[in-house]
Amino acid sequence: MSTPTEKSARPARSGTPEIRVSGLHKSFGDNEVLRGIDLEIGAGEVVCVIGPSGSGKSTLLRCVNLLEEPTRGQVFVGGTELTDPDVDIDAVRRRIGMVFQQFNLFPHLSVTENLTLPQRRVLGRGKAEAAKVAAENLRRVGLAEKADAFPASLSGGQQQRVAIARALAMGPEVMLFDEPTSALDPELVGDVLAVMRRLAHEGMTMMVVTHEMTFAREVADRVVFMDGGVIVEDGTPEQVIGNPSHERTRHFLSRLLDPAMADVEEGTDGAGAPGGGAAKTL
Ligand SMILES: Nc1ncnc2c1ncn2[C@@H]1O[C@H](COP(=O)(O)OP(=O)(O)OP(=O)(O)O)[C@@H](O)[C@H]1O
Ligand SMILES: [Mg+2]
Repeated sequence: MSTPTEKSARPARSGTPEIRVSGLHKSFGDNEVLRGIDLEIGAGEVVCVIGPSGSGKSTLLRCVNLLEEPTRGQVFVGGTELTDPDVDIDAVRRRIGMVFQQFNLFPHLSVTENLTLPQRRVLGRGKAEAAKVAAENLRRVGLAEKADAFPASLSGGQQQRVAIARALAMGPEVMLFDEPTSALDPELVGDVLAVMRRLAHEGMTMMVVTHEMTFAREVADRVVFMDGGVIVEDGTPEQVIGNPSHERTRHFLSRLLDPAMADVEEGTDGAGAPGGGAAKTL
């Protein structure tokens, strides 16, 4: 069920967009993956990005923190143009937290060490301060008791929450999530989404690629549907998920609900159905 009151109870948003993408194009050789993306995300806003496999969702997210260099167009974060050749990209990147499908924790370091290492290396924090920030953020994701554990002893969901805490410990202004729950067993997804939901309510600006439609409906201020490297639809979850105005959006959502039908319909391999083909709750 949609919860607009929870959304409006979040801290007030400022007028300037926290993330602004303008005329963004990205090609890999002859393959034009992003074909002119315009998108603004306000401070404190949560935007979920959905779309078929290969539509350019990850590439868009990676262009927002310049892990991929756009072929054309501009990206602004907090008013700074990342695509300006003179920008101190490392300084800007520190303001952007990123969480991937794979958690990428260091297996030979404890949970606390995984959180303190980047703070010390990148931000130059001292040992005591880094440890204090690590402890605060482990509490934030409900894993204070795992401070001394090693990643291999944690469930996938716990490892992903450590990865979120690691990003938060850097004090980012915005958080980008690329399918943070799609590598998890279904019973572990809920705890990760609960942490993300809490972050949203604390007022974090979030851009989330996900196929968790219940999360998108309840937490997102806006849902963006991408297909073929363009934004086809951008609106409230009620509009885009509940009452899509484009046939491509409707088709994608129906495949999410029932991938088996899509195979019959198209006589294809069902490659467009993300998340391993399991039907999702809409
Ligand atoms: N580093 C790269 N080099 C070459 N091609 C790439 C690279 N990264 C992505 N692509 C291509 O760009 C297109 C879009 O990929 P992208 O990963 O952005 O899609 P996606 O929407 O995130 O898909 P999925 O839902 O499967 O994660 C694909 O055709 C992909 O093969
Ligand atoms: Mg992707």
